[in-house]
Amino acid sequence: MNKNFACCSGTVPQRAHGGLGDNVSNDSLVDSAMIKAISTTFAAGPMLALFIGSIASMAEAHDGANGVTKERMDLMKGMADAMKSMGPMFKGEAPLDHDVVAEKAHHLSNHAKEIPELTPEGSNEHPSDALPIIWEDWDGYVENAEALAEEGAKLVEIAENGANLDEARTQFAEVGKTCSTCHDTFRKPKD
Ligand code: HEC
Repeated sequence: MNKNFACCSGTVPQRAHGGLGDNVSNDSLVDSAMIKAISTTFAAGPMLALFIGSIASMAEAHDGANGVTKERMDLMKGMADAMKSMGPMFKGEAPLDHDVVAEKAHHLSNHAKEIPELTPEGSNEHPSDALPIIWEDWDGYVENAEALAEEGAKLVEIAENGANLDEARTQFAEVGKTCSTCHDTFRKPKD
């Protein structure tokens, strides 16, 4: 069932997020509109709103980051873009496009597997928001990455099987939860 998507064929951590939502990055206006629409319209709203809101507040400069820390931040940024680019479909502003959802979800699932290798011990120097608890609870951290890989893969599968909007949105929310769950424990809280 799994297709190979051109965007994600490499195993090397990539900056090549070609076409994956580059047009919507760092657009907090889009985010707040999205939060409102989703939270007032859908049952899954509060979770999605919380999650998408947290993406908005994460859109900060990380110019000072180097090496693996920068790679990790770039990977996260690419995943946030993939999530954001699905937003309009799940708030009813764009038709559900199963191919796009499958492609973005594949991006998430694939890159989730790279999170542990991009988090070597001690790689939380400024301006990183990674918390030292990552290396105290490494198994927990890896489990969170695996959860994202699994929930992302489920979204790929149901999209490829022609899921209706409700089903796809519910699974999208499950994916979003895995991001928030990991951030809640392993990433510095935002002010
Ligand atoms: C296994 C844990 C984990 C999972 C799962 C996870 N993240 Fe992260 N994320 C982190 C950590 C740790 C940081 C802090 C990285 C740093 O600053 O060094 C982070 C940072 C970020 C950032 C900020 C990057 C920056 O520019 O500073 C964004 C955006 C982000 N994550 C989005 C997401 C999205 C979207 C998902 C789900 C699709 C997700 N993350 C899933 C652990 C995770």
